[in-house]
Amino acid sequence: MNILGIDTSCDDTSAAVVADGHRVLSNAVNSQIKLHHPYGGVIPELASREHIRNMVPVVQEALSAAGLKVKDLNGVAVTVGPGLIGSLLVGLYYAKGLAYVNHIPLIGINHLEGHILSIFLEEKAPQFPFVALTVSGGHTNLYHVEEFGSYTLLGQPLDDAAGEAFDKVAKILDLGYPGGAVIEKLSQSGQGDKIPFPRAYLSPESLDFSFSGLKTSVALYVSKWREDEGGKGAVKVADIASSFQEAVIDVLVHKLMKARDKTGVSSIVLAGGVACNQALRERLRDIASEKGVKVYSPRPAYCTDNGAMIAASGYHRMIHGEWANLSTDVRSKFPIQETLSIAPQNT
Ligand code: KG4
Ligand code: ZN
Repeated sequence: MNILGIDTSCDDTSAAVVADGHRVLSNAVNSQIKLHHPYGGVIPELASREHIRNMVPVVQEALSAAGLKVKDLNGVAVTVGPGLIGSLLVGLYYAKGLAYVNHIPLIGINHLEGHILSIFLEEKAPQFPFVALTVSGGHTNLYHVEEFGSYTLLGQPLDDAAGEAFDKVAKILDLGYPGGAVIEKLSQSGQGDKIPFPRAYLSPESLDFSFSGLKTSVALYVSKWREDEGGKGAVKVADIASSFQEAVIDVLVHKLMKARDKTGVSSIVLAGGVACNQALRERLRDIASEKGVKVYSPRPAYCTDNGAMIAASGYHRMIHGEWANLSTDVRSKFPIQETLSIAPQNT
């Protein structure tokens, strides 16, 4: 069963064809990084216009790379939220048109479910149940995943998402947008224990996240550092990047392991753009393996926003008869608990 997955939730125009919910036949992405780079963040109005420009070519690229025609598709899955309204509308209305004209089922997908299920695009996928952290520019959410379509939210950001903190700290350090990859690279030549930036663990039982205090602390440190040393003293910009990254990793790994202890699962899934971070992956693997817990993370192309994860989610919803229709609308906020629960596959 071939599903076309479309995601235009933020600043990437993505389309992919996935067979039977796990076999990726193509995965096309048009990145808008260059467009938003001068502004240090995504400008929603520009993002929507760029999606309009790129939607048709990206879908054509996905179909031709898969060696398929529209008539070979069994479904069109599209992200309906959460995300930027103007961006989401482009993907949804394109998908509606394509599905309607060609008499193909349309499936509306929650972007966060896409990130969780992205791990099933890999050959090495976990057994249910597992704990999943979807960590990116817009979210830092911890879930107990019992089955396809059965997700319990365990923790969420009280302020900035982790990726947002990476992006803002990169801006403070004049490293450009997006910040994650550049901070990770710079950190490799820095000393992670040089500056004791704060770790917000919140209350002992809390599985929620807060990164705005860390971001403010870095901003204050950097303005004083620039005044005192002009950036030419004992502390290098790489030390600041590395110390910041360590603080984020400490908190993410601590909360993930806490969620694992609370639920008693034996697998952890790390997904979303920040999951590209190798230092985070390695630390989590090391700590989890001490407890006999397995860590699963998709390859970077399936961690950042992509159509393949939406197609995979679409497959599971479609085989349970969940179709969208022409009145389906986009949602800027769309808690995953508000997606319909789908029955276990063997019922
Ligand atoms: O999942 P994604 O492509 O889009 C959202 O749904 O937000 O994630 C993008 C986020 C950005 O904040 C980016 O800085 C971060 O993921 N990111 C990273 C790395 N690569 C991307 N953060 C830390 N380390 C990385 N290597
Ligand atoms: Zn995302």
